[in-house]
Amino acid sequence: MESAPGPEIVVDGVRYLYFGGTSYLGLHAHPGVIEAGCDALRRFGVHSATSRQGFGNTPLLMDVERSAAAFFGMESAFYFSSGYAANHIAVQALASGADKVFVDAEAHYCVQEAACLARKPVLTFKHRDAADLRAMLTKGERALVLSDGVTPANGHIAPVRDYIDVLRDFSPSTLHLDDAHGVGVLGPYGRGVFEECGLWEHVNGGPPFQNVALSVCATLAKALGGFGGIIPGAAEFVERTRRHSHYFDGASAPASPVAGCSLEALAICRREPERRDRLRRNVQRLRAGLRALGAPATDEPTPNVGVVLGDAGSMRRAHEELRARGILAPYVPSYSGTGPEGLIRIAVCSEHSFEMIDRLLAALREILHP
Ligand SMILES: Cc1ncc(COP(=O)(O)O)c(C=O)c1O
Repeated sequence: MESAPGPEIVVDGVRYLYFGGTSYLGLHAHPGVIEAGCDALRRFGVHSATSRQGFGNTPLLMDVERSAAAFFGMESAFYFSSGYAANHIAVQALASGADKVFVDAEAHYCVQEAACLARKPVLTFKHRDAADLRAMLTKGERALVLSDGVTPANGHIAPVRDYIDVLRDFSPSTLHLDDAHGVGVLGPYGRGVFEECGLWEHVNGGPPFQNVALSVCATLAKALGGFGGIIPGAAEFVERTRRHSHYFDGASAPASPVAGCSLEALAICRREPERRDRLRRNVQRLRAGLRALGAPATDEPTPNVGVVLGDAGSMRRAHEELRARGILAPYVPSYSGTGPEGLIRIAVCSEHSFEMIDRLLAALREILHP
């Protein structure tokens, strides 16, 4: 990629219409975001080069946390260098409340790895299968259940209410989501899957819902247009989370330019809710158009759709044929949740026009129904 991400990108010198990646609100090349990153770099250098526990806790990092807390409607937030690490941090804090950890079989790599950090027995339940989860639970044992909020490869929302229906019989248990692909997109304020399900007030230090504690972590690097991991929550919850890992006192904080970008991108997300509205309309147009072509697309409100069109060979060919028409919709041979043949992952953002989406659909029609 030789350009910033957006509805169009340059790859190997050629400009393409682009339906990949995760910049769902089209903010990573926003002029204000770029300017804020440059300003932060000039003022604070690359980063403070010491831990936040010492002198390294810059006003910029604290502003990002305040702004993220406001975005999520929470008292506080912990901002650190990686969304991948967010689950590692969250699970270490949640582990003391669990006897066993249960992880969705197709959860993202970072969720699978995080499960082990609880230092408790780890069991794997079938993908998005609450009945299978129930069959593994034992009365009197507290469960910590881990899942993606939205599957990264194909945009399926976790069956949160089904999990809660199961877990309330085994309380006190905890349901934790990595909502990397839901935050910024779903829910009235873009707070993600739990908000979409009407459960936001119960999350990260809120009162348990039906005796089930709800927990979430996320990244600023996708829809929210910045970079780094984020755990918002009640002040006490965030403080406890911070203390259970050593990201605050034993790791470099997010670099100043990305913190500056994240701060401005969060401000834009709050100022311009119409980006989420445009994204929703684009999601509906894409998913309805795919179904009209006979492609298996659900009507979930998520911007990433994974379509399996035949075997790996035909999908690779479809990818190349799209590319020859100036369109990139990546064939992903293998990623968490792709299945044995892989899939074509199509992602829309708020900045795609209907005309762009229709061009993709017309090209797919030519390829699938020659
Ligand atoms: C579900 C999920 N969690 C976490 C991550 C990692 O987040 P980050 O890129 O911010 O480290 C990704 C992919 O990048 C992801 O798809």
